[in-house]
Amino acid sequence: MINIPSLQQKYKEYFSIGSAVSTNTIKLHDSLLKNHFNSITAENEMKFEHLQPKDNQFTFENADRLVTFAKENGMQMRGHALVWHNQTPDWVFENTSRSELLSRMKNHIFTVVDRYKGDIGSWDVVNEAIADECGKLLRASKWLEIIGEDFIEKAFEYAHEADSTAKLFYNDYNESHPEKREKIYMLVKSLVDRDIPIHGIGLQGHWNLADPNKDDIRMAIENYASLGLDLHITELDMSVFGWNDRRSNLTTPSEEMLEHQAKRYEEIFALLREYHQSITNVTFWGTADDYTWLDDFPVKGRKNWPFLFDENHQPKSSFHKVINF
Ligand code: G3I
Repeated sequence: MINIPSLQQKYKEYFSIGSAVSTNTIKLHDSLLKNHFNSITAENEMKFEHLQPKDNQFTFENADRLVTFAKENGMQMRGHALVWHNQTPDWVFENTSRSELLSRMKNHIFTVVDRYKGDIGSWDVVNEAIADECGKLLRASKWLEIIGEDFIEKAFEYAHEADSTAKLFYNDYNESHPEKREKIYMLVKSLVDRDIPIHGIGLQGHWNLADPNKDDIRMAIENYASLGLDLHITELDMSVFGWNDRRSNLTTPSEEMLEHQAKRYEEIFALLREYHQSITNVTFWGTADDYTWLDDFPVKGRKNWPFLFDENHQPKSSFHKVINF
């Protein structure tokens, strides 16, 4: 096998390079992960429904295996995600009141954050709380409905109480869209202004060949960085389909798609490097094209090829463009 440069080595002066993994993919992508990545995030196995499927019954087995994999390989671990409207079991919101739900939230955060104190350096504390619709700040959710707007600050306060050394992030998608960008900025600024313990913003980075444009990504980075917080790109992938392209019959990507993708990756990584003083981690939402959540989104069962490594774990043009600078 031809030796190829290590992605994380090449980027060591800029930011750590992460991948979202599972207990299956750490086996499937073992050698890619060990060679090219120095940070991991659990794609699903640290979400509420996985860690506490029933009231006060925690299941840590899979999460622990990921933490062990990170430690054994000298990788950082990002924690994802403590409070989210999705993948939270129904029992959490049943037969409850504001004070009871706050105490369920606190118990979850305390138990989980405390268990991984010293192992997980950054947590996505609140995920996707901002609404996508115009003219509305917060997304409708059970957290908001039952607790009220302060569910966000409470989550950060509990996480900080549980581990005062962990960096605490607000994480969201469509983070570069001008209106949503402004709403994320306003929400986080109001937390910072009130001394709520928040240390970073996660820009998910679910991007595609057409969107968002580079200028909007730059504006988002500059706005968020102006708050003096750390920025992580938390869930990067580059769909080979534009948002409105619903074709579903391709079994391999065209050369044109792959070249376009490589160009996008090249220009976006050049931009990220410019802001490396604020951006301290860039995490892909997967490792290689043989497995991605985009195979089921937005078209169920449609194959996608969003990463730097192909289905056979070989580097793509996108990899070479990101590494040759
Ligand atoms: O575990 C079951 C399995 O038992 C069952 O056989 C299978 C049948 O479909 O489903 C499996 O669960 C799926 C799970 O992923 C594990 O693969 C769920 O149906 C599926 O909905 C779930 O999707 C995850 C999604 O979050 C759910 O919201 C994706 O893997 C995961 O990549 C995605 O990640 C989110 C981030 O957390 C937040 N930002 C957006 C991002 C993409 O949606």
